[in-house]
Amino acid sequence: MSVAPRIIKTQVGIIGGGPAGLMLSHLLAKNGIENVVVEKRDHETIRNTHRAGILEAQAVTMLTDTGVDGRVLTDGDEHAGIDLRFNGESHPLDFRDLVDATVTLYAQNEVFVDLAAARQRDGGDIRYEAEVTEIMDLETETPKFRFTDADGQLYEVHADIIVGADGSRSFARRQMPEGKRNDFKVEYPFAWFGILTEAPKSAPELIYANSPQGFALISQRSETVQRMYFQCDPNEKVENWSEDRIWDELQQRVAGPDGFELKTGPIFDKTVLGFRSFVREPLSHGRMFLVGDAGHTVPPTGAKGLNLAFADVKVLFEAIDSFYSTKSPTLLDGYSDLALKRVWKAQNFSYWMTSMLHTPVNADPFMTRRALGELETVTSSRYGQQYLAESYTGWPHA
Ligand code: DHB
Repeated sequence: MSVAPRIIKTQVGIIGGGPAGLMLSHLLAKNGIENVVVEKRDHETIRNTHRAGILEAQAVTMLTDTGVDGRVLTDGDEHAGIDLRFNGESHPLDFRDLVDATVTLYAQNEVFVDLAAARQRDGGDIRYEAEVTEIMDLETETPKFRFTDADGQLYEVHADIIVGADGSRSFARRQMPEGKRNDFKVEYPFAWFGILTEAPKSAPELIYANSPQGFALISQRSETVQRMYFQCDPNEKVENWSEDRIWDELQQRVAGPDGFELKTGPIFDKTVLGFRSFVREPLSHGRMFLVGDAGHTVPPTGAKGLNLAFADVKVLFEAIDSFYSTKSPTLLDGYSDLALKRVWKAQNFSYWMTSMLHTPVNADPFMTRRALGELETVTSSRYGQQYLAESYTGWPHA
């Protein structure tokens, strides 16, 4: 016996309630555009998923100027530079001096917490633990999808527009017909081992280190909690790494004649993060549009993932808003091409930072030396430093 689904009629049906889906939902609601967000995971799981922590100034503005919350301003840490470390030496880049810009260190899970709270405060319709099982009628003016909630109740969402904001393993993306989609990807022979530790900051700015043992990133979360990563084998198991072994490895990768030493403490979280570059083209099919990781993934070096997702959301929000105010789909039709311009710039930047800073096991010695030559080129020239600083702090939104 099949039970008839309960129908939900809305303007925009959003699949995925991570930062991208919630930000879009928030912006649409502010402009009076009805929407429903359906998210597979529960609130706690997303809140405890650790991701990158760097926000471009434009991403911060999207939170503060739209009334999400001011916590990013009070709890976030403004950073005006990074330290590129190679051959055991520090090469500080001063973003304020170079490109008159800064970034803010504010963990992605905090961004999620703030957005989720804002949607709840404003009466948003967000369904957690709700799994989308079917997407229908994308090539019509009333696209639909079905989902089952935590109680097993089946629903069918009828919308004008469907948005796939459901992350790198996107179900929405898989519904685009073969023959009308193209995927571009790069696999890398390494991953990141990430830790959270109760320790003081080791240095004022984030350190991106190239070393003979491989890449390391010394990041931060607060005065008392730090985030660090080191390049590892994609099949590495966290159980094989004791605290002592982790600190030895990290310390070797930042060591140099200046005697720089990491400040250590208890490690309370260890994860291996997979690594790839991926782009789906186009980012739309009929009345469905992909944003963020659902449409593209970048390797973490340079922390472009969330920033890129917010940039997609801004372009798509303006297109949807124009669709309702002018009745013209022109901007919606242009969404994919416009968003992809920035996507490919970010793909290039993330690939570039990754290849310049990492050393694959059994790397060709020529390639290892070449990367050091590139680091020398970038850090010894103001133009080189500006190129990196401009990309890191973020190109202007479209
Ligand atoms: C962090 C992660 C990154 O990938 C990066 O480039 C900078 C910071 C972080 O998690 O803090």
